[in-house]
Amino acid sequence: WILMATARAPTNIAVIKYWGKRDEALILPINDSISVTLDPDHLSATTTVAVSPSFEKDRMWLNGKEVSLSGGRYQNCLRELRNRAGEYTDENKGIHIEKYDWNTLHVHIASYNNFPTAAGLASSAAGFACLVFSLAKLMNVKEDLSQLSTIARQGSGSACRSLYGGFVKWTMGNEMSGSDSIAVQLANETHWDDLVIIVAVVSSRQKETSSTSGMRESVETSSLIQHRAKVVVPSRILQMEQAIRNKDFSSFARLTCADSNQFHAVCLDTSPPILYMNDTSHRIISIVERWNRHEGTPTVAYTFDAGPNAVIVAPNQKVAMDLLQRLLFYFPPARDNELSSYVLGDKKIL
Ligand code: DP6
Repeated sequence: WILMATARAPTNIAVIKYWGKRDEALILPINDSISVTLDPDHLSATTTVAVSPSFEKDRMWLNGKEVSLSGGRYQNCLRELRNRAGEYTDENKGIHIEKYDWNTLHVHIASYNNFPTAAGLASSAAGFACLVFSLAKLMNVKEDLSQLSTIARQGSGSACRSLYGGFVKWTMGNEMSGSDSIAVQLANETHWDDLVIIVAVVSSRQKETSSTSGMRESVETSSLIQHRAKVVVPSRILQMEQAIRNKDFSSFARLTCADSNQFHAVCLDTSPPILYMNDTSHRIISIVERWNRHEGTPTVAYTFDAGPNAVIVAPNQKVAMDLLQRLLFYFPPARDNELSSYVLGDKKIL
């Protein structure tokens, strides 16, 4: 016999960034973070998992190519799931699995990303959230999403936020075990559904410094990161929660841009400095800043993760289209290799 389960999980974009760990193995952060989960039709992972007594070992395929499961992060997720697996019976098919059987049964995992890997947008967040959720279904794990988020977190920190739609907070927690370092939903996907996200693909080149090693170097060498984690982020988290609750776009935009800029300032304060943004990223910032100044209030927000691609948030479809037109004016299609604009969703992201 063979049992299968399939799930899909979207990626998420942090508006208050996670940067820095206090425990590398358990993936425990030094500050809370807040993100918005994209519409699953766009940047998402789809994973099918299967179990059968005939499988001889755990195996995984990513976009059709076999990958190794030997890394600590995969092993930690699989172990946590097996510890929580439940029994399963299907009398018609004559299947009975006891809880402890999951320790000897092997799984096969096939995962696909629906976004062009060449766009440099590949994200471990959607991948690990999807892996954990689909295996939890298969293994009959009876835990709620916040508990599953503690497992996805051990695959990749940002993955814990992709288990929920809408706006999500990853609470850093205080426990050494990580039991309280969980994701919570602040608002569901219908709460602020006018928002539009534009991903401007500035470069499809693989980033030089991964988030994992970049944040390790920042924790070791930056003094700004301590001030950020202890003083700036705690107050920004409260303000951001309020802005989301009240759908206050100008506060939301001000905080999002400021947090992205401070995260990149921490990268620059790292030794040797980490430069994720390039000249095109900087031009996008100045175009948006000039536009917002001209309007007298923040009209759109930008945020950049560990790479040069811009993520722009507009309050509605009309502003998104105006902005896109402006970007295409500054980066005409003839220079498509420098920037290709790419709208996510015909109307909304949430
Ligand atoms: C800049 O979650 O990729 O995107 O936990 O080491 O896997 P690991 O790092 P990862 O870091 C994401 C960093 C970020 C900010 C964010 O998503 O909050």
